[in-house]
Amino acid sequence: MSYNENLKEQEQSKKIQEMFNNIADKYDFLNGILSFDLDSNWRKVAIRLSDIKNGHKVLDLACGTGDMIAEIHKQHPDAFIYGADFSVNMLHISQKKLNNIPYAAADAHNLPFKDCSFDRLTMAFGFRNVTDKARGLTELYRVIKPGGKVCILELTRPENKITSFFYKIYFMYMLPFIGGIFSSRKAYKYLPDSVYHFPKRKEYKQMIEEAGFKNIYFKTLVFGAVTIVIMEK
Ligand SMILES: C[S@@+](CC[C@H](N)C(=O)[O-])C[C@H]1O[C@@H](n2cnc3c(N)ncnc32)[C@H](O)[C@@H]1O
Repeated sequence: MSYNENLKEQEQSKKIQEMFNNIADKYDFLNGILSFDLDSNWRKVAIRLSDIKNGHKVLDLACGTGDMIAEIHKQHPDAFIYGADFSVNMLHISQKKLNNIPYAAADAHNLPFKDCSFDRLTMAFGFRNVTDKARGLTELYRVIKPGGKVCILELTRPENKITSFFYKIYFMYMLPFIGGIFSSRKAYKYLPDSVYHFPKRKEYKQMIEEAGFKNIYFKTLVFGAVTIVIMEK
């Protein structure tokens, strides 16, 4: 990547960070409406597939307002959970809800953790926003222990034409409209754009492999609108 491209990506990442800081206080409310509350079920499935064991050190990266942390704690009360996000406003909300968790203000491009720190790492609806995905994956690989697993839960574009058509109508028109009424239209216009630019399965898998991960397992939900990937170091 050239110096200019790198600079452009960093600027884009800063804008995304600012956007999440701006919508933090409305995030939980709108998330429930816009996902028809299905997102909590997707998190449950992702955590089940993460194979978390008693005593595991688990990092929830891009933890946002803490929904994933709460569910991990519910399913695995004996795990040691850490939360990290680059939006301090999101972290403050999570901290108010779950105050006995260690938190870090952290950018996925440059994590403030030592090599091989965690047994498991989860990232729900955050990876899409990482502007340099190859670098992000390298960081995830670095902080996970050998034999450890990473779970990325993400909104993806259905590859089936019919589903993709209805999905487009909802995502391109309805979502920015509803988001605009209650929060920021710009932010809820960014959401479909980021999903549409997300790599397709083949490219996505290749990026994960290039970061060094093995035993990569894909699970799609809602006709491909949601993808969970489990990868092992
Ligand atoms: C859509 S929210 C998801 C929050 C939460 N994981 C959930 O399941 O509701 C995306 C979160 O990713 C965070 N995020 C985006 N890019 C990030 C990055 N490069 N490093 C760390 N956090 C990031 C945002 O600040 C935001 O809190």
